[in-house]
This record gives sequence, structure tokens and C-alpha cells, in this order.
Amino acid sequence: MSHQIIAIDGPAGSGKSTVARQVARELGWSFLDTGAMYRAVTCEALSRGLDVHDEQVLGRLASEVTLTTLPRVTVNGRDVEDEIRNDRVNEAVSVVAANPLVRRAMVARQREWAAQQPVGTVVEGRDITTVVFPDATLKIFLTASPMERSRRRGDESAASVSRRDEADLTRDASPLRQSDDALVLDTTGRTVDEVAGEIIECLSARQSN
Ligand code: CDP
Repeated sequence: MSHQIIAIDGPAGSGKSTVARQVARELGWSFLDTGAMYRAVTCEALSRGLDVHDEQVLGRLASEVTLTTLPRVTVNGRDVEDEIRNDRVNEAVSVVAANPLVRRAMVARQREWAAQQPVGTVVEGRDITTVVFPDATLKIFLTASPMERSRRRGDESAASVSRRDEADLTRDASPLRQSDDALVLDTTGRTVDEVAGEIIECLSARQSN
């Protein structure tokens, strides 16, 4: 029963983090927000004044830093929980996330981390069902209407969200895409409890097969 993974992908505002967290809580599993990892590396690059377009420098940074996402997002011991959501990071994270060297370092960390979890883990991001854990126990792709997605984004402007979405969909390295065998759930007008409940039912059905 070890190493069970629920992999969740979807665009900004589709409800990934909230739903993934709730599913993990209900199952008693751990949870990994991989977006927070890309954001933390971006934060560190900005605070060191590095050129985020420099692939080698950013790739090195991504493999060297110490990262945590829970209970707080930290990079080299510095708490960046609030900083990772600011406008500068929203703007630069798409460049950092498009860097194949950064992605390689993040994916290695994500797999290593998941392998250490005692029961199971819920992991969410953009490439989790397609690249990081293509053989996950359950693969989910969350969507929501554009209006609902921009409503959920809080402080980030609609323009910034759509720029990030566009960058995530069109980059060469692991673009956001729906894997053929992922269960697609539209979260528009549905509560977190409903969506999390459906995912858990699906998992139970999968496990009893
Ligand atoms: O704002 P939202 O929660 O949708 O984004 P996030 O999950 O915090 O991710 C921030 C950015 O990191 C995304 O726009 C992607 O560019 C990148 N990302 C990625 O490329 N791959 C992942 N597995 C997770 C995030």
C-alpha cells in the first residue's frame, strides 16, 4: 500500500491546491504543492538579483537550494510563504518554470519526496500527471470556467493569470496538458467538499478493482 499517489494538474484558479489539500486531509495523506517550489526558487533568484533568463545559473540554483513547502514555504531556511505570491514572482515564475534544468531538479526532488511518504501523497501542479507521476494511482485534471478561475485568483490580476496560463500551455518543457487517462473534473459552481468527495470515491473504486 505504500507510495500511493493522487496526481492533480490544471490551470491557475482551477481549484487544485484547495482540493488537493482537502483530499490529503481526508485520507490522512501528505500533500505537495509543486507550484510553491517553482515560486520559491523564483523568489530566491529575485532576491539574489540573478537574471531569471539565465538557464545555467537558475538550473544550478534549483539543484542547490534547500526547499520546504510545509508547514511553511522556505528556501535556504528563509520563510517566503507570503513573498511567493507577490507580483514580481507571478511575473517571473513562468520564465523559471520554462527552464528545463530547473524542471529536472524539481522533478527529481518531487519523486524523492513522494518515495519517502509512509502511506500516500496528493501532489498538484502542471506536469504531475504527464511527467512526474505518469503511473500515479489516480490522475485528475481540474478545470473551471474562465470567469470562476479569475474570481478565485484573489489579488492576482486577470491579465497576469492569463499570461501565466498561456506561458504554461505553450512552453517546450513539460507544457500543461491533459493526459489521456486523467479524470477531468470541472469545478465550476461546485464546492471543495463535493470535488474532494468525488476524487476519494474514484480512488476507492480504483483500489477495489
Ligand atoms: O497560481 P497557481 O496556484 O495556479 O500556480 P502555482 O501552482 O502556484 O504555480 C505557479 C507557476 O509555477 C505556474 O504558473 C507554472 O508556471 C509553474 N508550475 C509548473 O510549471 N509546474 C508545476 N508542476 C507547478 C507549477
